[in-house]
Amino acid sequence: MRRSVMIACGKYLPRNCVTNADLAKRIETSDDWITQRTGIRQRYLAGEGELTSDMATAAALAALEKAGLTGRDIDAVILATTTPDQTFPATAVTVQDRIGMGDRGFAFDIQAVCSGFIYALATADNFIKSGQIKRALVIGAERMSNILDWNDRTTCVLFGDGAAAVILEASEEGAGTTADRGVISTHLHSEGAQRGLLFVNGGPSSTQTTGVIEMNGKEVFRHAVTRMSEVVTEALVTNGLSSADVQWLVPHQANKRIIDATAEKLQLPPEKVVLTVSEHGNTSAASIPLALVTAVEDGRIKRGDLLLMEAMGGGLTWGAALVRW
Ligand code: ACO
Repeated sequence: MRRSVMIACGKYLPRNCVTNADLAKRIETSDDWITQRTGIRQRYLAGEGELTSDMATAAALAALEKAGLTGRDIDAVILATTTPDQTFPATAVTVQDRIGMGDRGFAFDIQAVCSGFIYALATADNFIKSGQIKRALVIGAERMSNILDWNDRTTCVLFGDGAAAVILEASEEGAGTTADRGVISTHLHSEGAQRGLLFVNGGPSSTQTTGVIEMNGKEVFRHAVTRMSEVVTEALVTNGLSSADVQWLVPHQANKRIIDATAEKLQLPPEKVVLTVSEHGNTSAASIPLALVTAVEDGRIKRGDLLLMEAMGGGLTWGAALVRW
């Protein structure tokens, strides 16, 4: 039974760390308000001229180094981003070039906003399971700071920049049970009728500008808790598992209150939840892999642990992945 095993991961965060107190010097907000409503204490913001492709390439190279591989060993780059360098070409092809893949394999971007990493992971997993490729680099990378209205305190305090990458490799080991390593299942959903709750008010075919984020925060919050609880339950039930079988919930890092509410619905204690939103803010498609790499590097996530990843974002899109690390 063919499985996609996560063999290595790597991350990149820009140097510029901006605390809530720093933001309070620029707009009418406070550390107390941001911390209490969101759990965010700081975020990293990309430097001038630092592009999504730069951060994605750095994360990809870190993952390749950990795996002892080079770009010539990779068959596909699938990059989840909502902040590509340009309208086209895909940011993934820049990464393909920079990591030295030459004309080997293929590279493309995926746009599912904060659910982007789950969508990219599901896509790569299906390419591997079908036998079409052997190894994929799955990346989440964002420069959210470029699509924020820095005068809108209801949105600009929430987001950060960064990138993280995972290498997936085909494995024929095991019988494909939930005890075997690799991606066990992925679950994707969307509801286009809700696209007005969270969007960027510009784009190539509408305004010909990039635009900035607009959001109905309360409604997004409500949908996030409902949809993420639904989809993690779907992932567990599909595989005949319960939340007690899960070692780590690795959720999209949007807001600590959303994560707490989802974990509570699942009856997962806080000790089983990877929480990085306080340090990174909401990095959209990069948030799950950044949380994953952080917990792998600090030794919390160990080989064989069962990971439950979940996200919801603009679209609305939402999804989950059950992975044996
Ligand atoms: N600093 C200080 N005060 C603020 C700020 C701020 N940064 N932002 C808003 N306020 C004020 C408002 O103006 C309002 O003041 P008023 O009562 O005088 O009118 C007050 O704080 C309360 O505002 P609400 O919008 O009601 O605050 P709420 O409790 O809903 O929290 C928040 C807002 C944090 C945005 C919340 O709705 C939320 O987290 N929603 C989810 C949004 C999200 O995470 N989006 C990310 C993308 S989607 C995803 O990743 C899941």
